[in-house]
Amino acid sequence: MKELEFKRHRRLRSTDNMRALVRETHLLKDDLIFPIFVLEENDVKNEVPSMPGVYQVSLNYLTEEMNELVNLGIKSVIVFGVPQEKDEAGSEAYNEEGIVQRAIRQIKEEVPSLTVIADTCLCQYTDHGHCGVVRNGDIANDESLELITKTAITQAQAGADIIAPSNMMDGFVAAIRQGLDEAGYSQIPVMSYAVKYASAFYGPFRDAAHSTPQFGDRKAYQMDPANRLEAIREAESDVEEGADFLIVKPSLAYLDIMREVKDRFRLPLVAYNVSGEYAMIKAAAQNGWVDEKAIVLEKLTAMKRAGADLIITYFAKDAAKWLSES
Ligand code: PBG
Repeated sequence: MKELEFKRHRRLRSTDNMRALVRETHLLKDDLIFPIFVLEENDVKNEVPSMPGVYQVSLNYLTEEMNELVNLGIKSVIVFGVPQEKDEAGSEAYNEEGIVQRAIRQIKEEVPSLTVIADTCLCQYTDHGHCGVVRNGDIANDESLELITKTAITQAQAGADIIAPSNMMDGFVAAIRQGLDEAGYSQIPVMSYAVKYASAFYGPFRDAAHSTPQFGDRKAYQMDPANRLEAIREAESDVEEGADFLIVKPSLAYLDIMREVKDRFRLPLVAYNVSGEYAMIKAAAQNGWVDEKAIVLEKLTAMKRAGADLIITYFAKDAAKWLSES
């Protein structure tokens, strides 16, 4: 009988040390960005029911939360404001004394080593819950750009290190870049939610940020999950308009898109591991159906393998702890 010929791939998997030698992807604490919801109410720390372990905090709890991040070795935070007052035009989003502006100022004063990323959107601040202003039942693109730009400038004034617009209006990067430059913030980078799908995975976030649209949905501005080429067009225009980072969101169901964006553009790529992705793992883990630590580290590593340089994740604190243990 002729001798079998085949490759012995298992040679490189024989021991822990051998596997470490040939490991291609490494998850680092430096990669992690923690999202925080800051409430305008006084003296509250609420666990989000659909996101066990994630809290909305008022300003008096914010500094201790931020110190916890620093102690865990996490360097960046993305801040979402949850205002008390909402109106048609989302005025609290660009109020210099608004909740997100106060939160940013407080973090920069009390925990200056943290990099503060400001989420720039109107949906938590509008009474209708849409990411722009509504005219005749439609989300008015160009009019919304002015308000979003004002929001970004007040966030930069408050001390934000990075502006992260998530509203999906056309031209938001161009408008914000120009606004920041004219206001004297040409050194502040824009981390664009370049590729953001109209996804069912945002459900728990909308509870946490009180940003569920009061009519309709976001499909006229967020992307159709069926589309790939459109993602490339979205990323391309943001690069041309001056984005410094590109976000792909959500992450797990869109790893193919991440790889494609990474291969085509020379900018740092950010994966947004969204609320629904968090809630599903938490629920399964609480039932004892999956090994939480193993599954979280596996999926965060998969995002890096797909091309992400950074990951916005509600698991950031857990992941930082687990990475210290290993
Ligand atoms: C606001 C915004 C959303 C998320 C981040 N910024 C929600 C949305 O578009 O409805 C979702 C984050 C998550 O689900 O974790 N525009």
